[in-house]
Amino acid sequence: METVTVDLGDRSYDILIGRDCLRGLGDLYAARGLGETAAIVTNPAVAALYLDTVQQSLSRAGVKVVVVTVPDGEQYKTLETAVQIYGDLIAAGLDRKSCIVTLGGGVVGDMGGFVAATYLRGVDFVQVPTTLEAQVDASVGGKTAVDHVLGKNMIGAFHQPKLVLIDTATLDTLPKREVRAGMAEVIKHGIIRDPGLVAFLEEHIEGAANLSLSADQINWLVAQQCRIKAGVVAADETEKGLREILNYGHTVGHALEVVTHYDYYKHGEAVCLGMLAAGYIAVQKGMWSQDAFERQNALITRLGIPKGVPDLKVDEVLARMMSDKKARDGIIRFVLPEQIGKIVPRDDVTREEIVAGIQYMQNQALG
Ligand SMILES: NC(=O)c1ccc[n+]([C@@H]2O[C@H](COP(=O)([O-])OP(=O)(O)OC[C@H]3O[C@@H](n4cnc5c(N)ncnc54)[C@H](O)[C@@H]3O)[C@@H](O)[C@H]2O)c1
Ligand SMILES: [Zn+2]
Repeated sequence: METVTVDLGDRSYDILIGRDCLRGLGDLYAARGLGETAAIVTNPAVAALYLDTVQQSLSRAGVKVVVVTVPDGEQYKTLETAVQIYGDLIAAGLDRKSCIVTLGGGVVGDMGGFVAATYLRGVDFVQVPTTLEAQVDASVGGKTAVDHVLGKNMIGAFHQPKLVLIDTATLDTLPKREVRAGMAEVIKHGIIRDPGLVAFLEEHIEGAANLSLSADQINWLVAQQCRIKAGVVAADETEKGLREILNYGHTVGHALEVVTHYDYYKHGEAVCLGMLAAGYIAVQKGMWSQDAFERQNALITRLGIPKGVPDLKVDEVLARMMSDKKARDGIIRFVLPEQIGKIVPRDDVTREEIVAGIQYMQNQALG
């Protein structure tokens, strides 16, 4: 088992990564002295696969278990669903000493984490992420949230878990499209922080996307993402500075998700396209080499460039980026690579450069 410690003073905790480690959850939970009652928040699809194992493991360790099931899908990551969860917790008599265990992808993790941050002014929680996106990104860093009709993740809190347990065997049942989408965040981590990871991906990206690497390699790969993100989060927990580098590819990517109403692209697919656009902008600005840009793009091509939207309106994408919560005074802020492994924030990207970046991306995606 790999261990990554998220170093946040008295809120530090471990992320444990291994294959077939789900059944060990109860002992790990008990060893940390977490609540007598655990409320497992999950959805029907994940419950059908993994709930028994998790529930039995906790019960064996003497933990009382309550199961709260929420509908599957981003469209249910709302305050309304959170209110239903609160209702189930109150009805089950859960007090401040209880603990929430989120079992599922980023949707369940974000929403269950948000409920943990707010129920009775905050209770402990444990994340058991079962998608690649959640294992390499969403479960690390303590950002919890629900969506509002006017924007994604608009209502939330920073609330760190007490433990994250990642069983990489759960990826075996994940649709391959979800695996590839999660792999976008892996490429992103390499470009922003880790040339060694980029070199690894250059050798193994197909094996990573098909999960045909050895268990040790998959565990290492997931753990490495947790190390990278944990390092950034430890330096800047509440996104006052460094943490924004994690947004590489997300400025355009997020706008693409919005203009396609969140039902065309998986998040990671939009991020892949966003990295093509941002990389192009960096090259235009003369801050990134063509060679490094092509190395990034080769990885994205081998992963599979997500299909472009034929009638994409560049003005609409720009307008979206302008109204993003991260844009200030009409300035769209980008984080752009200088080298593989080194990235910097820039707020001097011109409209022309952005348009050219989006057009480049569009050509690649439609090509
Ligand atoms: N908090 C953060 O820092 C952070 C970071 C990145 C993303 N997010 C959030 O994460 C969410 C996206 O997460 P996601 O991509 O995991 O989507 P998701 O949670 O919707 O999961 C994708 C699908 O896979 C299914 N699934 C989950 N595990 C499975 C398994 N092992 N086998 C088979 N099917 C499985 C789910 O039921 C769902 O249908 C978004 O809401 C995003 O905002 C949060
Ligand atoms: Zn992302």
